Amino acid sequence: MPRLALKSLPGLSLGALLAVSVLSSAQAQNANQSATDEIAKYRQMLADGNPAELWEMRGQELWQKKLGPNQQSLEQCDLGKGPGVTKGAYAELPRYFKDTNKVMDLEQRLMHCRMSLQGLTREQAVKTPFGSAGNPSDIEALVSFLTAESRGIKLAISTKHPAEKQAYEIGKKIFYYRAGSHDFSCASCHSVEGQRIRMQDLPNLNNKANAQAAYSTWPAYRVSQGEVRTMQHRLNDCFRQQRFPAPDYASDSITALTMFLAKSADGAVMNAPALKR
Ligand code: HEC
Repeated sequence: MPRLALKSLPGLSLGALLAVSVLSSAQAQNANQSATDEIAKYRQMLADGNPAELWEMRGQELWQKKLGPNQQSLEQCDLGKGPGVTKGAYAELPRYFKDTNKVMDLEQRLMHCRMSLQGLTREQAVKTPFGSAGNPSDIEALVSFLTAESRGIKLAISTKHPAEKQAYEIGKKIFYYRAGSHDFSCASCHSVEGQRIRMQDLPNLNNKANAQAAYSTWPAYRVSQGEVRTMQHRLNDCFRQQRFPAPDYASDSITALTMFLAKSADGAVMNAPALKR
């Protein structure tokens, strides 16, 4: 009786959820539904107090703090809506920047500002992109603060500039590019309705509503990791599942792929950092 087994547990037990995979497919389907319901409840429960708020607060402090050889804050960083404008800036990224003559996503732009305003070297600006216990990431904190500044704002992604259009097309190519030991592309896992791996629903990113729900909720506090993770972290994990090599941090191909995902979600109301399993 898998459903009873799940219900009899206090709260959500991942062990129980994984154990379900040994059941027959009919049983498993019931249990899957029940597990999805449990996860939804769990999210709802924690939504009132998302730990991501701590990252947002630390990010705001970092944004305002004078740092680096130049002893400058990031408050004059131009995220696309003018120097110092943070409100709604993320909802228009990635975008073309005239000063660097390229399309940049938030993390690339942050790196640029930390180098140009604060005088950090590239190495210093990209240090610890992904935090762990005892080694927090300034980037995850800054990204949390800046995405929160677009909470409730609709994505408005431009592909008008030729460089933006090109980034979108390259991102789309990457999405459908099959290779590796399993001959997988992103689309292998993300372009079919109702597909799952183990207990995880795989969003069909060709479906606009799914694409919007997915994109508008990253970055996210990952309960399983105890950290806020950025879109780059999510994509790295997907490339790993695809048996592809790990992409370089803040590379142009990540920006292009992000451009494709963002444009596919255009019009969605941002609600990040969210809370995820
Ligand atoms: C082998 C299967 C697989 C491949 C290939 C794959 N992913 Fe994923 N993807 C997953 C899984 C599993 C999740 C997590 C779903 C969950 O936790 O609910 C996920 C989650 C995501 C999410 C977040 C969805 C959400 O709602 O939070 C995005 C965005 C995403 N993938 C994009 C991509 C992109 C882009 C690629 C290609 C680089 C890719 N994935 C390749 C399995 C895959």
